[in-house]
Amino acid sequence: MSSDVINIDRVLASFDELWAPRVLATVNDWAVKLAKVVGEHVWHAHPETDEVFIVLSGHLDIHWRNASHEVQLVRLGPRDVHVVPRGVEHRPSSAAGAVLMLVEPAATLSTGDFAGPLPSHVAATTGFETG
Ligand code: NI
Repeated sequence: MSSDVINIDRVLASFDELWAPRVLATVNDWAVKLAKVVGEHVWHAHPETDEVFIVLSGHLDIHWRNASHEVQLVRLGPRDVHVVPRGVEHRPSSAAGAVLMLVEPAATLSTGDFAGPLPSHVAATTGFETG
């Protein structure tokens, strides 16, 4: 048992890297993660889990590809919450930047099943420890 108190603002102040989630807390085998994002992530899916996006601040666009490969756009603003079902291809992006909270199985890889070379601004990670 731990009496540690974790503060979201303190964790956010401790890093600047984009698309590189920090693990805020672990709960059983799940993790609560924080991410700062600007620009485009890569198209990917998570075959093993749904993914919830909780926008703390800023605006996030999520492009989806449905089973017919048609692209749909979901636009999220501050305090909006959206779930991408498991297996659905998606690409998050934010032109002006956003701060996100993610709640997912701790082993979930940020880039899911993406197999190509990653652009340098995107990390493939299950979440970095907070400093
Ligand atoms: Ni994803």
